[in-house]
Amino acid sequence: MTCSILVGGAWGDEGKGKCITYLCNKDKPDIIARAGVGPNAGHSVEFNGEKYGLRLIPSGFVQTQSKLLIGAGVLVDPNVFAHELDYLSKYNVAERTFIDPRCGIISQDHIDRDKSSKHLSEKIGSTGSGCGPANSDRVLRVGKRAEDIPELADYLEDVSIACNDTLNEGGDVFIEGSQGFALSLFYGSYPYVTSKDTTASSFAADVGIGPTNVDEVINVFKAYITRVGEGPFPTEMSQERAEALGIEEYGVVTGRRRRVGDFDFELAKESCRINGATQIALTCVDRLYPDCARTQDYSVLSAETKEFISQVEQETGVPVTIISTGPDLKDTIDLRDELL
Ligand code: GTP
Ligand code: IMP
Ligand code: MG
Repeated sequence: MTCSILVGGAWGDEGKGKCITYLCNKDKPDIIARAGVGPNAGHSVEFNGEKYGLRLIPSGFVQTQSKLLIGAGVLVDPNVFAHELDYLSKYNVAERTFIDPRCGIISQDHIDRDKSSKHLSEKIGSTGSGCGPANSDRVLRVGKRAEDIPELADYLEDVSIACNDTLNEGGDVFIEGSQGFALSLFYGSYPYVTSKDTTASSFAADVGIGPTNVDEVINVFKAYITRVGEGPFPTEMSQERAEALGIEEYGVVTGRRRRVGDFDFELAKESCRINGATQIALTCVDRLYPDCARTQDYSVLSAETKEFISQVEQETGVPVTIISTGPDLKDTIDLRDELL
């Protein structure tokens, strides 16, 4: 029985979607449970030559044997949920996706408030998905919950009971976090953050699993850092340098150009400490070191790439167990067996 939580190490968009699909496809957990804020997330999944952009349904959907759950802490936009059930229909998601009845609901009014607030849309640079206003209504205890929405009635299940029963029966539960450490309302670059804590402890609470049941925390970092929206970014580089390095990026949800910077060892250290990370997954290593593109073999990495990976391990004290060398699931070096 293993309970793993995957978290973003920086400002989101670390390639969590890719890591989640790789790990779930390989390990076949009984349950894949979505934690985190809500549909402000945009996870990218590339599988068998097809590309998907997801905001709510767990990115592990490609593992068709797993049950897909959305934990009580996550905000649900019923329109996004309906769209994704349809979008992923060839993976039978409608038969195996369930929402906790306690999930907070995002309505059109929340989206309008998010987009029309100068503070949120301009100063903070929010995603406009209604998450901030919906979480604020939740804190004020005036928001609706999934159990209040007739269209969701067929998809309700107590996610905490499902996860704990599966663990007690010896099964595996994989919890996918969204956003990233530096966007945490508690630990991130306040006020330029999202509307909730985004560390592993909150993700466990989001799906109703207690801290003593968590075995692994996998912290995902890109080999460089990106940030969308406003706020401090100590290692930021110019767009010209990002282009010269071939690492410019655009957002999945908003299409906004992402700000780009060098890997931040201080941020990585803090992120590993507060998340209690037991493993690191490093993504987009091929974009920084093109000679390792698509390899699955650690031994062929250049000396420079290996030096970078060992510096990450030394600075954080956490082993790098997954090295992602391309967007597809198969472009992955998996070193987890070497930990045993
Ligand atoms: P958030 O929930 O927003 O944090 O999403 P995310 O962490 O899943 O990241 P997102 O999909 O927004 O952005 C990562 C981008 O990098 C996507 O386009 C992925 O397909 C791509 N990607 C992920 N891993 C790799 C990799 O190792 N190499 C390359 N070249 N691309 C990658
Ligand atoms: P909100 O969560 O939409 O309120 O946005 C607040 C801040 O968090 C903005 O800077 C957003 O760009 C950022 N943000 C929220 N979710 C994500 C994500 O999944 N990836 C990257 N940035 C995010
Ligand atoms: Mg993203």
